[in-house]
Amino acid sequence: MTEAKRSLEAQHETEVNFCVKDIRSMISSNGVTRSTLSEVKARLLELATHQELFNTDIFPVQNGDNASSLYLLSEDVNHEYAFYALSEIRGKMTPPHDHTTWAVIAGIEGEELNKFYDRLDNGKDEGQAQIRESHSEVVGVGTGVILMPEDIHSIHCLVEQPTLNFHFYGRSIEYLPKRKAFNMAEGTYKHFPANPHIYK
Ligand SMILES: [Fe+2]
Repeated sequence: MTEAKRSLEAQHETEVNFCVKDIRSMISSNGVTRSTLSEVKARLLELATHQELFNTDIFPVQNGDNASSLYLLSEDVNHEYAFYALSEIRGKMTPPHDHTTWAVIAGIEGEELNKFYDRLDNGKDEGQAQIRESHSEVVGVGTGVILMPEDIHSIHCLVEQPTLNFHFYGRSIEYLPKRKAFNMAEGTYKHFPANPHIYK
């Protein structure tokens, strides 16, 4: 490993550790509320200003990945406080989904459209769900979105410019077996498996 790479890794570790420490303190003092998650978002946006440490040259979409690559920055040993950088190119899309844990996305570079949905049914029929798009928000430089565990969103990368965002979750996405991916047209949902490709 070169000296420059070693130094970059040390700076990542320092800044990421400070950020996780602050976020842990926010959540443990105030609990998981929209107001706390807004504070978490502000802290992530502050970290995002370190573009010399977090950019798409350092965290590119890797060859062989379709339109996005997910990098793990930090995670507790019990899989809580999972912190990722998601690198995307135009064409990256997800279906509407929930997270079953709190989540915050903060923009570093490029743009990602987030659509949000309301669930209209009472959730009593396994595999069935009626959802309706409620609004959308763009995550770009200096902006982010917050999601409570039951909130539903989809992401759409529509711009030519490479896109990089922080994704911070209450729990590792490898340990969220009950996340739902919705099919709005059919009125159904399926539990969806963890992303098998996480760069660690
Ligand atoms: Fe998501």
